[in-house]
Order: sequence, then structure tokens, then C-alpha cells
Amino acid sequence: QESLQGHVEEVVLAQPRGFCAGVDRAIEIVERALAKFGAPIYVRHEIVHNTYVVNDLKTKGAIFIEELSDVPPGATLVFSAHGVSQAVRAEARERGFEVFDATCPLVTKVHVEVAKLRREGYDFIMIGHKGHPEVEGTMGQLTEGIHLVEDVADVAGVQVPDESRIAVVTQTTLSVDDAAEILRAVKQRFPLVREPKKQDICYATQNRQDAVKVLSGEVDIVIVVGSPTSSNSNRLREVAQRLGTASYMVDSADEIEAAWFEDRPRVGLTAGASAPELLVDAVIARLKELGALSVRKMPGVEEHIEFPLPKGLGDKAMAEA
Ligand code: F3S
Repeated sequence: QESLQGHVEEVVLAQPRGFCAGVDRAIEIVERALAKFGAPIYVRHEIVHNTYVVNDLKTKGAIFIEELSDVPPGATLVFSAHGVSQAVRAEARERGFEVFDATCPLVTKVHVEVAKLRREGYDFIMIGHKGHPEVEGTMGQLTEGIHLVEDVADVAGVQVPDESRIAVVTQTTLSVDDAAEILRAVKQRFPLVREPKKQDICYATQNRQDAVKVLSGEVDIVIVVGSPTSSNSNRLREVAQRLGTASYMVDSADEIEAAWFEDRPRVGLTAGASAPELLVDAVIARLKELGALSVRKMPGVEEHIEFPLPKGLGDKAMAEA
């Protein structure tokens, strides 16, 4: 191990990286709910897909559950940033919880579009990853008429009653390139398909993937800080790998292995939209132990998007409390 030290020479940081506006808001909702109502606050599913964030909120009094039957009557409940189905929403209402919805507004936008076009008689193709909570939430806006496709091959199997009334929606955190390829196949099979005015893949996903493409060309290896469950973090690692740059995803700095950097002195570093910057700082510290002498930031898009907090948590008095 010792003999491998000194292999890292330079660290190059992707811009942008890390927290998006939806993640920032979701975490703040749980923290403000804890401050206002006290522990425990129940959260349906991991508020965002990051181990550090979830553990940190657990120590502050958040309890993470998957089934609403595990939440006691009268409790305060937060929906995760990934969004929920109408069935979950209805169940929470019936059980009488005080609900704060941390669904990212960009996911809600997709939900609203699905409901609106359904009233106009549309069926849907959803491009996304089976089993991901965002896909379950978006598909669960309807009880029928929404068909999941995960890849080009799935497109052939879609059956709809009226091919002139079909619309496509996607998960917000897909690979931009994969989604474009699947969309091409959808358009070939259903030439009249209706697309969203602006793509459903969100600005944060787009910007982080764009940045990693630029980064990959300048380094020998890319490290992505993110948890295994994080869709957008996994996609960042794939983007680098597809460009021929060795790439690893780590949940924390201690997962880094010195051997990765043998003959790879220039290290690119990015973080998924749910990964806090303090984990990036810890990785930089580890890379310095392995010999990094300089840390430089790539030029890139500056993001200034902020989403308002839900009513009842966003007032100024709370911010000062
Ligand atoms: Fe929202 Fe995109 Fe972040 S959908 S939660 S802004 S990754």
C-alpha cells in the first residue's frame, strides 16, 4: 500500500457537481419539520438516495419507513424527493397524518402533465428504471394506461388503444444519451407520439452529465461520490466509463483504494445530486494523502435554481429559529 502512495498528482473537480435544488429543499424540509414539531419525524423512503444524509437525519430524529402502516396515528410524515403515487397520497390522507411533501417540483411537474394529458385521453410510455421510487410515483399517478420501457427492446412490446393519443414521459435522472436513443425508437414505432415541451430529464442531471463528459477528457480516472441507490450518480459513472475513462463510485472516502491510481495520476472528481460537498472534501483529503499536490476546478455552468419550501415550513420565523 505504501509503495503506491504518491501516484495521484492532480485533482480536477467537475462543475457543477453535488446537491441540486430539489435535494437541498428535501433535506431542509425534514430539518425544519424536526425543528418545528420535534422528533420523531417520519419520512417515507430515503429522503434522497444518500447514506450520509439519511444517517445524519436519523441521528437528528427522523425515522425512515417504506410502509405507511409503520407510521403511528397523528404523526408528521414527509414524502421523499422522488415523489409518491396517488395511492400513497390517499392512504396518508386516510390515516390522518400531517404531511409535508418533499417531492422535487420537477418531478411534480411530470405528475401534473401526466394527469392533464390523461384527462385528454392519452396513454403514456414512461422511460425509466423499474423499481426506482420515482418511476413508481409517476406511474402511480394513474391506475392504468402508463407503460414502462427500460430500453429500446421494450418499445416493441407496448400496446396502446389509440396510437394517435400517446405521450412520452421520463424519469428525471436518466442518462441523457440512453433516453435519446430510446425516444428515437419510440418515435419510430409511434410517429404521432407527443413529447414534453421541455425534456423531463432535469437541469441538474443534464448539467452534471455534461460536466463529466468534459472532465473525462482531461483526466485518467473519474471518481463519483454517490450512494449505490442513487440513479443520477450511477449514470455519472457510466458516462465517464463510456468515454473510455476508468471510473469508480464511492459512498465515502474510505472506499477509495490506492491501487486505482496506479498509472492514473490525474483524478477527476464529481458528485451525484444527492451527495453532500463534505463527502467531496473528505475524498480530496484522501487524494492528498495519496500524493495530490493540486486541486483545480473545471469551468462550467453555475446553477442558481432554488425551490420554495412548502407552506407551514417556509416562514421567516422558522429560518431564524
Ligand atoms: Fe429534482 Fe433533478 Fe434534483 S428532479 S431532486 S432537481 S436531480
